[in-house]
Amino acid sequence: MHSLYRVALLPGDGVGPEVLNEAVKVLKAVESVNGVTFRFLTGLIGGSAIEATATPLPAETVAICNNSQAILLGAVGGPKWDSNRPEARPEQGLLQIRRRLGLYVNLRPIKVLDSLANLSAIKPALVKGTDLVIVRELLGGIYFGNPRGIFAKNGERMGVNTEIYKEHEVERIAHRAFQLARNRKRKLTSVDKANVLETSRLWREVVTRVGASYPDVALSHLYIDNCAMQLIEKPSSFDVILTSNMFGDILSDEAAMVAGSIGLLPSASLGERAALYEPIHGSAPDIAGRNKANPIAAILSAALMLRYSFHQEAAASTIETAVEKVMKQGFHTSEISGRGRAISTSRMGTLVAERTERLLKSQANARRKKAK
Ligand code: IPM
Ligand code: MG
Repeated sequence: MHSLYRVALLPGDGVGPEVLNEAVKVLKAVESVNGVTFRFLTGLIGGSAIEATATPLPAETVAICNNSQAILLGAVGGPKWDSNRPEARPEQGLLQIRRRLGLYVNLRPIKVLDSLANLSAIKPALVKGTDLVIVRELLGGIYFGNPRGIFAKNGERMGVNTEIYKEHEVERIAHRAFQLARNRKRKLTSVDKANVLETSRLWREVVTRVGASYPDVALSHLYIDNCAMQLIEKPSSFDVILTSNMFGDILSDEAAMVAGSIGLLPSASLGERAALYEPIHGSAPDIAGRNKANPIAAILSAALMLRYSFHQEAAASTIETAVEKVMKQGFHTSEISGRGRAISTSRMGTLVAERTERLLKSQANARRKKAK
């Protein structure tokens, strides 16, 4: 059976285009053996969209996304636009597309392979066995609450942001996290700041209530500061971490250092229908255009797309295995210190694509032999 998948590519800014190229390279390797075809449509987002159209999320990009079954995004942002007014910042492109498509679930898996535990910023013995997923609420909280702005009062300016969580917003993300935990180690840690914030008190109450429908999942609650500490102290003790938009943003960068590099971690943003896949890292303007960025987060994001949007589990896990094998051989990009010589973005992409193709071919051969 041959399947055709429509994928929107939003390369964005900085290293975004470079890393996305490598993800596409790997998807083409899947295409060459697996009887699937990807139809890619490319759209502008972020700073590059501001340059071309004066808006970070042009209508044409929204149309491309609406006509696609999944979206692969590189990264947005850069110093060039840092002084833009808030609605004309590159990040708005990303926040708006999340909003438009109703992507309220953000999954950020962090898995430390024993053989790669030495990459971690933390002692290998502490990180070994780490296999956790951060479930970040993506459409609420302080990112979107009103009022917001910089206002003048009594001759002084003040910055205002508002954290809001409605019950239904907590409920729906909690259900998704419990369902995920059910298919994993059945352990859910909900992270908040209920000792200080009302939003967190409501969060804790709703998560506890939802948890009653999942008696097979062990629920516990941690304050964000304590969780930040335990993530370094005993990362392998976590399974599913459920948290708010901003806490999830921060914890996932921290968790990246448990794995060894922010260049390694993919993410999936899901709603009821649409889905967007992107590295958790930013646009890294300092190394943009230099063929230095780590494409693995983008490549693994493509694998998540195959898994969640297209139900191509075999292809998804084959890409993950290919990444693992290439890294085990000692190949790494320059932000990771380690054995062997650092290789370029495109070289890393080629190695993973070739490995993926070889693995898929041998799986196909094995199936053919068995069928005979
Ligand atoms: C992330 C990023 C974004 C976020 C930025 C670029 C708006 O940091 O996806 O983690 O804060 O959500
Ligand atoms: Mg972030």
